[in-house]
Amino acid sequence: MGEDSASHRKSGEVLPSGLGKPPSKERVRGRIGVLLAQHEELDELFLLHQEALLDRDLNRARELLQQYRVLVATHIEEERSELLPIYASFGEAPRGADVELFHSEHEKILARLVQLEHSMERLAARSPQSTRDLIAIFDGESSFKHLMEHHDLRERRFFFPALESWCADS
Ligand SMILES: [Fe+2]
Ligand SMILES: [Fe+2]
Repeated sequence: MGEDSASHRKSGEVLPSGLGKPPSKERVRGRIGVLLAQHEELDELFLLHQEALLDRDLNRARELLQQYRVLVATHIEEERSELLPIYASFGEAPRGADVELFHSEHEKILARLVQLEHSMERLAARSPQSTRDLIAIFDGESSFKHLMEHHDLRERRFFFPALESWCADS
């Protein structure tokens, strides 16, 4: 409905921040491929981090988690500033795919990652680390993985297809 699209516009996040002009369709098409490939890279990076954790190689586990957070932050920033404003301009989104939901998931993901890094720091400060300490970390990371899985699905089902059909429209 028109009311919904108006509410997207009220959020003030429809226009790319700091840019007067939205990106070209050609650029968006290219970036969709890059962002989707990053989803796979991120999954792999997180698994490498968990493997290092399982091996009790805490330095490597922390380093990989930091790399992961930096890549997530860059990825989210691109979606937030370039692509979500275009998506918001399409008007009413299907149930479960509202632009605000993507923004709030992004905030949640970034906040959870800061918490995971703090947990890793606390773990590294304890020596030796007990198996139960490790289990607690894996439990926390498991809920984070679910959050990422839902977000990935939501983007694949709604966000990227909507942008792809916008790109295909001449
Ligand atoms: Fe994404
Ligand atoms: Fe995202």
